[in-house]
Amino acid sequence: MAESRSALVVDDERDIRELLVMTLGRMGLRCDTASSLADARNQLQRNRYDLCLTDMRLPDGSGIDLIAEISQKHPETPVAMITAFGNVEAAVEALKAGAFDFVAKPVDLAVLRDLVRHALEIDHSRRGSPDVVASRLHGQSPAMASLRQTIAKVARSQAPVYIAGESGVGKELTARTIHAEGGRAAGPFIPVNCGAIPTELMESEFFGHKKGSFTGAHADKPGLFQAADGGTLFLDEVAELPLAMQVKLLRAIQEKSIRAVGANAEAIVDVRILSATHKDLGALVAEGRFRQDLYYRINVIELRVPPLRERREDLPGLSRMILERLAGDQGRTVPHLGEDALAALQDYPFPGNVRELENILERALAMAEGDTLDAADLQLPRLPPPAAASPPAGGDPRTLDPRDTSTSALPSYIEEIERAAIQHALQENRYNKTRTAAALGITFRALRYKLKKLGID
Ligand SMILES: Nc1ncnc2c1ncn2[C@@H]1O[C@H](COP(=O)(O)OP(=O)(O)OP(=O)(O)O)[C@@H](O)[C@H]1O
Ligand SMILES: [Mg+2]
Repeated sequence: MAESRSALVVDDERDIRELLVMTLGRMGLRCDTASSLADARNQLQRNRYDLCLTDMRLPDGSGIDLIAEISQKHPETPVAMITAFGNVEAAVEALKAGAFDFVAKPVDLAVLRDLVRHALEIDHSRRGSPDVVASRLHGQSPAMASLRQTIAKVARSQAPVYIAGESGVGKELTARTIHAEGGRAAGPFIPVNCGAIPTELMESEFFGHKKGSFTGAHADKPGLFQAADGGTLFLDEVAELPLAMQVKLLRAIQEKSIRAVGANAEAIVDVRILSATHKDLGALVAEGRFRQDLYYRINVIELRVPPLRERREDLPGLSRMILERLAGDQGRTVPHLGEDALAALQDYPFPGNVRELENILERALAMAEGDTLDAADLQLPRLPPPAAASPPAGGDPRTLDPRDTSTSALPSYIEEIERAAIQHALQENRYNKTRTAAALGITFRALRYKLKKLGID
């Protein structure tokens, strides 16, 4: 027989308590209730709960304090806060204090049921332990160990996470790991490259459209939000979103509902938002190129994935792991990395980070004759010293952007030009790859390879 699950419902209004208890009861949860902070503390001392729902304003204090206490003393109990409608500040504050999610008043029961389902799916014994995370994100450095710990923690939450880091550091891998280790693992993970969607199609791509809503809309089409329902939407290169789209996205995130183009009603969607960019989003906000309110909303938790040159201890292990994978794919014996090769890697600045390391090793593997790779096989490009060595005036250690030409990171710069040319050609040819390849004067295979390499969807 399945063990019965239990919840603690904290609200000073009796009607709301009853509504919540009834809804949770129908989902098979046994409920205790509390009408004040003191009451809730009391219950928490005596019982263990699989879920706690708390109101924000309680007669003897704030629900935020309760959230902070529970995440300290009972980290195994996910807690969600009920907030006043439209009170984004409170919702963000709750998530920062350790709430795994929030629900706005008046409580929409469909939204509440999704929330409960995700809370119960978090398997605290196995998921989200730094060990499990390590099987995906490799690296022995203290920086990576601490990143893995943070990932294990944020995986349990439903809070939006913003992942910052240079090109190729592992931002998408981080996002996938957060998804895979959390309560939404059974749902879809939908990555979107925000820079690759033509502006005029954006609203319909994100929210879907109804048949006949514009010329070319021959049938109803679900959008990315519907595709990610029950799972995670990963907004990659989020800095590329046009301002008009930022407004619509903000609404969708705040209200947990969307309206398809041409639809006359909103529909509830249950999506966790993760986002990333290699750009300095804070600086874009200061320049007025990214909306402050959206930034505030998607950046509730910020993770920074450190560049490879800040964790050189990871190089030997990471290289071995990559070589094992590459050699395994090709059915070859795993080559050994010579001492001079390792030393050369240790000196190289890696503007393209782990992806660049993968490319270097792949090329070396193709060229190498024996079972040892030496420094010459690596063919490391000669780069001027990285800009990180001379921080910009003012001492602000801004993230180095290897795509910025001023850092002379030539390979990344070329990648950027390629990316822009390909994206432009894709748009011109309405995403038909055969025609795009022809327009660019390359083969279909070469285009497919480049799309994959540049991470263009
Ligand atoms: N810590 C790691 N352990 C193992 N593989 C890694 C690690 N970090 C990155 N990788 C690998 O490096 C490659 C680049 O990672 P990913 O695509 O996540 O980077 P990114 O930050 O999203 O890059 P970009 O800014 O170019 O989009 C992937 O093949 C990924 O699997
Ligand atoms: Mg990426």
